[in-house]
Amino acid sequence: SIMDISHTHDDIELECACEGSLACSTCHVIVDPEYYKKLEEPTDEENDMLDLAFGLTETSRLGCQIV
Ligand code: FES
Repeated sequence: SIMDISHTHDDIELECACEGSLACSTCHVIVDPEYYKKLEEPTDEENDMLDLAFGLTETSRLGCQIV
């Protein structure tokens, strides 16, 4: 996931407070629209957490759920 990539790249800062267990929205990322179309649909659980994310956009996702 993007969370895993951020863990191994010091230049990518992504908080991921719950370490990918869909219990926070600190891993909120805004995806480029071109790339967003290629991703699987978010699950209901992800959408529920996304609703709590600050600055939600049409192409928002949770970084720990993008694989
Ligand atoms: Fe908490 Fe992604 S790290 S939902």
